[in-house]
Amino acid sequence: MTDTGRIPVIIDCDPGHDDMVALILALGNPKLDVKAITNVAGNKVMEKVNRNTLNILNWCGVDHVPVAAGAERPLVREYARKDTDGCHGITGLDGFAFPEDNPLELSPKRAIELMADVVRSSEKKVTFICTGPLTNMGLFLRAFPDLKDRIERISLMGGTCHFVLTEPFMEFNTYLDAEATKIVFESGIPITMYGYDVTYTVLYHDDFLERLRGIGNRTGEMMAELLKEFEIMHNRVWIDLGGGPVHDACAVAGVIDPSVITESDRMYVQIPLQAGPLSGATVCDYAHRSGKPENVEVVFRMDNEKFFRMVEESAANLK
Ligand code: RIB
Ligand code: CA
Repeated sequence: MTDTGRIPVIIDCDPGHDDMVALILALGNPKLDVKAITNVAGNKVMEKVNRNTLNILNWCGVDHVPVAAGAERPLVREYARKDTDGCHGITGLDGFAFPEDNPLELSPKRAIELMADVVRSSEKKVTFICTGPLTNMGLFLRAFPDLKDRIERISLMGGTCHFVLTEPFMEFNTYLDAEATKIVFESGIPITMYGYDVTYTVLYHDDFLERLRGIGNRTGEMMAELLKEFEIMHNRVWIDLGGGPVHDACAVAGVIDPSVITESDRMYVQIPLQAGPLSGATVCDYAHRSGKPENVEVVFRMDNEKFFRMVEESAANLK
């Protein structure tokens, strides 16, 4: 079969408002061939994450991509998310009322089974885009070590180098399941890390929400409503930098068009697990003094205008 030039990807996510933007950016861009979407407990418990993913796909008119439920808790660490935790509201997608009647259903396969099926059957190496805790990715690598060489790259939203949101080197996805993060970061697979250093410089404002509404379709309308609510919740719960972050979509944009990355650096990143203030941190050797192999490309800046244009174009390609 001729190579269509499209990039086969699997998206592992925990919607989440910014996961929603990541999914739409990927599903609406012709360069990506989204082979599967797998869900992981993170922002919200598995049941809510599953419902949110299926609601996004149904609303945007995407009914051909299999969606599988995945890990309901981290590999080792405790997981006790209260409904009110975090900045995504009670549902995980507060701000928009999706219709109750959703004909889409989950795959009968679990996440890592679906991942294995896609990787085995793909003619080309598969790129994984991870926008939640890395539990499914870690499980997959442990369960199917023979498939590791069929992975092109892992593009993940997670970690942080210099940007301190809560504690130094701490970011939600990578600390929630630090053991899984360690498995992934030590896998030897090429990794591009979109952490807080870049995601907190890619902020949307009301003018972008107006652009989404101006598309004139239901996808743009839904996005604008959800992102307006997310900006309010995020800036109240975490940090107000004068706009709203779309952390996860950054990890998609760089797969679609690497030129959107304007500043990055390859470096050694370690994930301490021992109890203490750095347990689950992404400790980045940004001074290149460790002598350890540089295992991660850490992204620091993107071309924001190009990024938001890509999101707008993808949204316009959906329902
Ligand atoms: O720290 C930001 C990350 O945590 C994003 O993926 C967001 O969706 C939450 O999962
Ligand atoms: Ca996420």
